[in-house]
Amino acid sequence: MNAEEIKTGLETTILGRAIHCLDSVDSTNRYARNMAEGGAPDGTVILAEEQTRGRGRLDRSWHSPPGLGLWLSIILRPEIAPAAAPGLSLVTGLALAKTIEEQLNIAAKLKWPNDCLLGGKKTAGILIDLAASAELVRYVVVGVGINVLHNPDDFPPELQKMATSLSQAAARPVDRALFLTGFLAGLEREYFRFIKEGLAPFIKPYTRRCSLIGCHVEALVGRRLVTGKAVGIDPSGALVIADGENEIVLTAGEVTRVRQ
Ligand code: BTN
Repeated sequence: MNAEEIKTGLETTILGRAIHCLDSVDSTNRYARNMAEGGAPDGTVILAEEQTRGRGRLDRSWHSPPGLGLWLSIILRPEIAPAAAPGLSLVTGLALAKTIEEQLNIAAKLKWPNDCLLGGKKTAGILIDLAASAELVRYVVVGVGINVLHNPDDFPPELQKMATSLSQAAARPVDRALFLTGFLAGLEREYFRFIKEGLAPFIKPYTRRCSLIGCHVEALVGRRLVTGKAVGIDPSGALVIADGENEIVLTAGEVTRVRQ
């Protein structure tokens, strides 16, 4: 993929207007943070064919082999309070799920806070890095990793049972550039709406796609293991877990589905 090919199909005003395509980089999020510190404009996209030290949430690594995925980071400079920034992660997940449904015609689920699942297996993840002063966001780097062209044995053995790719789920090859331009256009629409209206319009559609709602789950809150039923997403984007009379509101962390 190269910048010209991507720009040709791009129907956005800011996202991807500046785009940097790299053959190999340690992590596009780290690269994007450096660019943001250097003044890169709102909407700049960094895309890599391969990451040698791709990062996931909770300090995990993200498997990013050459040519098989979309490994990208988007620099955003929204005028919002730092506390609102995690909402961008839900907004991005929703834009991704909608792009999958529109382009591939398969149902995509979102595992709170931001994993995208096809047929119960993880296809994409989102990692938000935030730079802010006490009151205002300086910039947000939205990192998105999408498995696109992997066959099952392209994943390391420990991931094979739980990971999939767009082409595997759709049972046909997927054009990475085409998917990317569609995703950036969809994300820009949702992003502009988020800036104008906040997270409120996203709660219902997100809840509808959330794989955890109605299921018995367990989650680590600090060192405490919480169990209960995932009953909803609150207006701030937090997951609400009911345990008998008590409701626990989870703003971050890892949640596992125990049973339906
Ligand atoms: C997760 O599910 O844990 C989040 C994974 C995020 C991976 C993407 S790939 C592009 C960007 N650069 C990184 O180092 N990580 C994100």
